[in-house]
Amino acid sequence: METQAFIEELESLKAARVATIVEAGRTSLAGVASVDGKKLLQIALANEISVSELAAEWTPTTPEVDVKIAFARQAGDEAGHFLLVAGRLAALGFDVESFRAPRENPLFQYLKGLATTVERVAAGLFTLEAIALGVNENFMAYCERQGDLETVRIYREAIQPDERTHHEIGTRLLRKYATTPELQSAARAAVEGVLNIATSARADGAMKLGTACFPGC
Ligand SMILES: [Fe+2]
Ligand SMILES: [Fe+2]
Repeated sequence: METQAFIEELESLKAARVATIVEAGRTSLAGVASVDGKKLLQIALANEISVSELAAEWTPTTPEVDVKIAFARQAGDEAGHFLLVAGRLAALGFDVESFRAPRENPLFQYLKGLATTVERVAAGLFTLEAIALGVNENFMAYCERQGDLETVRIYREAIQPDERTHHEIGTRLLRKYATTPELQSAARAAVEGVLNIATSARADGAMKLGTACFPGC
């Protein structure tokens, strides 16, 4: 398939599945008055550190220099998000020193198993970042409802612009590298792999937390 047509097809496939995930979070907003906002911010901490580590792990094993630098930049950006969220949690009275990085979950096990550049770009920058952008909007709406305008400001001014940039870089790199039928089908499979695991992981998380409106990375 011509690369531009492939990207458009992949974007609409991904957008439809991400919309379903975001809608599940949005509709669960109505009943979340009793959820502890600090718990939701700790999920953000876990996600940010996991994505930072993933991008860092991919950096030395990705040969294409522009993709390598995109992962290196992402690793730094996600570490920055971790620090912003940690600062907010500390201001809310949470002892950030007590936070421990999460054990590897099925989503990050799957991501770390991806060995090729197009799969990594498709799964990480292109898909995971799109999920993050969407679910973070839900989370910001929740925070706004709770009167936590400082968390909203941090997401609006610092975190979301980075996640948007990561996604845009992912789209550009896919357009550059997913140029053959084999590469395109590997990219499509990686997008679907992440969406499938993220959909069920978020459903499991929602059961435990009582809401599906927790943040991404
Ligand atoms: Fe991100
Ligand atoms: Fe992030």
